[in-house]
Amino acid sequence: MIDYSNPKLLVESAKLSKGQVTWKSPSNLAIVKYWGKHGIQLPRNPSISMTLNNAHTITRVSYEARTDFERLFEIDFMFHGERMESFEGKISKFFEQLLPIYPFLKQVKWTIESENSFPHSAGIASSASAMSALALCLCSVEDELFGTLSDDKAFDQKASYLARLGSGSASRSVYSKWSVWGQSGSVEGSSDEFAIAYDTMVHPVFNTFHDDILIVSRAEKSVSSTAGHQLMEGNPFAAVRYQQANKRLEDLCVSMKKGDVEHFGKIAEDEALTLHALMMASNPSYLLVEPGSIEMIKRIRAFRADTKHPVYFSLDAGPNIHLLYPEEVVHAVRPFVESELAPLCVDGFWINDWCGDGPEQL
Ligand code: DP6
Repeated sequence: MIDYSNPKLLVESAKLSKGQVTWKSPSNLAIVKYWGKHGIQLPRNPSISMTLNNAHTITRVSYEARTDFERLFEIDFMFHGERMESFEGKISKFFEQLLPIYPFLKQVKWTIESENSFPHSAGIASSASAMSALALCLCSVEDELFGTLSDDKAFDQKASYLARLGSGSASRSVYSKWSVWGQSGSVEGSSDEFAIAYDTMVHPVFNTFHDDILIVSRAEKSVSSTAGHQLMEGNPFAAVRYQQANKRLEDLCVSMKKGDVEHFGKIAEDEALTLHALMMASNPSYLLVEPGSIEMIKRIRAFRADTKHPVYFSLDAGPNIHLLYPEEVVHAVRPFVESELAPLCVDGFWINDWCGDGPEQL
């Protein structure tokens, strides 16, 4: 186990000058899903994801000497320029968890300004981009104040570890292209505590993958991911699911090395449907797919059968469809999306996204 606790990371408040750091961090799409956790944000099975390019959060963290000591932390949080006190509680909880690692969190006044590239109401989970952006900012602040994170690899690993404590999937957003979180015998260096870049064993075709995010509903989810993870604890299929996820990750790694797009696509679709089957088999059971999601799945499978193009779908913990395909078929797929899938989207809205280069410090 890594122990990042460090009681020495305290500032001399009187000498503290103001500072500011900004990170842009993307969302990611898991192909083998993280669904079920234990202990302090540890996954029940390993997961692998593609880092996106366009769906991202930009977070600016400003710090200065603290003046108000009424609360445990002094945090002002702004979302798209507006103060959001409801989020300040969530960030306080996150900071509380981080206190042994970053005791300076309670010595400083924090102003956190955040914005997403996608509309708030798009129904896209934003915890991965939001928590990874915040974790990256905190690591940059550590380095500015103490000069203790100059090594890039150590920086990324710590950012991933901190992001995980905020939201499991966020641990994977720290890296470009492909990332694995959770210990797996087939991925050297993989860990339950932080994600790693998965880059050496990937056929180049997978780095050209598109993810068209088709917005089926903008309604807030009836059951949050965090509650969904919890329900896995009583799910009668849990043990076999965790075994299956391990095996699928192993198989996916083989396919990604060989460039076997078809097998990759099969695993992606099987995982998406398994995730939702697990929700339906929870107690209480629940359903996040909508008629539009099912209609799109049917059309995608029919289009694939007719054209033989490698086009597949995935789902997150919501009704939106992620359409996955390599760059080489974009010219055939775009007209299909526009004529057959976009009309099923809310207000015809979909996000053109693809395998991205990871976070960027601005
Ligand atoms: C279905 O990372 O949102 O997207 O750790 O409770 O914040 P918390 O959950 P979260 O769960 C993501 C679940 C998923 C699959 C995945 O991204 O692997």
